[in-house]
Amino acid sequence: MRSTFAVTVHPAARVRGRVRPPGDKSISHRYALLAAIADGTSLIEGYSTGADCASTLACLRALGVRVEETGRDAAAGLSLAIEGRGLGGLEVPRATLDAGNSGSTMRMLAGVLAAHPFATPITGDDSLRRRPMRRIIVPLERMGAQIDSVDGLPPLVVRGADPLSPIVFAPEHASAQVKSAVLFAGLHAPGVTSVVEPLKTRDHSERALRAFGATVDEDGTTVSIAGRQRLSGARLTVPGDISSAAFWLVAAAALPGSEVVVEQTGLNPTRTGIIDVLRRMGAHLDVEPDVQAPGEPLGRIVARHGAPRPAVIAPEEVPGVIDELPVLAALATLGGDLQVSGAAELRVKESDRITALAAGLRAMGGRIEERPDGFHVLGDRPLHGGNVDARHDHRLAMAFAIAALGATGPTTIHDAGAAAVSYPEFFSVLESLCA
Ligand code: S3P
Repeated sequence: MRSTFAVTVHPAARVRGRVRPPGDKSISHRYALLAAIADGTSLIEGYSTGADCASTLACLRALGVRVEETGRDAAAGLSLAIEGRGLGGLEVPRATLDAGNSGSTMRMLAGVLAAHPFATPITGDDSLRRRPMRRIIVPLERMGAQIDSVDGLPPLVVRGADPLSPIVFAPEHASAQVKSAVLFAGLHAPGVTSVVEPLKTRDHSERALRAFGATVDEDGTTVSIAGRQRLSGARLTVPGDISSAAFWLVAAAALPGSEVVVEQTGLNPTRTGIIDVLRRMGAHLDVEPDVQAPGEPLGRIVARHGAPRPAVIAPEEVPGVIDELPVLAALATLGGDLQVSGAAELRVKESDRITALAAGLRAMGGRIEERPDGFHVLGDRPLHGGNVDARHDHRLAMAFAIAALGATGPTTIHDAGAAAVSYPEFFSVLESLCA
């Protein structure tokens, strides 16, 4: 997704209103991928409207999967009917697959393709072609696939094998995408495949596999799956994305007199680190979980302003807030003080999120010290606004917009269209909350 338009965001006194965030991006990818290799048809509601999740569907269609969009609503998301092709049943693609801006699509789909004995070329946009893939190439090749790349970067050609060998894999990085790629390959391999993580990461794949009827075992940070389990088509609803909701929680926290109610938001405990950190930073948050449904927990969050307090995010907390760090930094520029370490992974996201974040916040008048594995934001003087570059990174475009609400002058965000990767409705919702 490459969109270059600029948006000017003006300071706002407060934000008020109700929002239903778009369907969770992480969960949407997983439901689509598993529906594609299940037996029977899956009906998925609330699928993300973002460009990344559209990339996953486009890749699946190119692999012979029938995906029908049965409904589309800006608030409720997409309704899909996906006809599963059964385990190992994807078709040889006729053209190179395009994962667009989506690292999740490329990495997790590679796990599935590793078990299909044909060659699949996959590429992506300029940003994705700079992102490291060795982290999935190494374990998938150990299982028997062969993956061609130059220097571990996309484009890739995934040459799958059948049968794959099950492995026990201890990744160097705490990455849910890597864990998922190995588990999805392991689902096809005879025997038990295990991933031993350095820190626990989001468990959406484990929950999704169970929702499609598979058994997955967890013991601390080790996840194991017995291969050759067949999945059954399922009826599932994707909860709202807490990483998208985070922008509104932060806006409400930052501006006195604000109140934002975020509805039908995912409350998976591996993703709610943002709630703990925001409370430490002074925000008032009320969390009301819905009656517990099987699968992914969800509920309502009411966010109000609170006096800013300094906070530190420790390395072990990082996987739980990795995507929210840019907007938390934005909050700290508006009167807080935030120190983050153990987050070197930010440098290999859709942009180098440490350097690009520091450049943007400084251009708005913020004080931020860049560190190899994190940053320190000192919110001891007001932002004046200015010109910032989102560098084709959706989360930076939106984080700068939230910082801009608390500045004393306007901010023009170049490449603001990048927000559509996860939240196409972001700027219209922003306008409605500021009205
Ligand atoms: C994701 C995992 C994280 C996260 C990304 C989505 C997922 O990436 O930053 O936005 O859906 O599994 P890593 O696996 O690279 O940590």
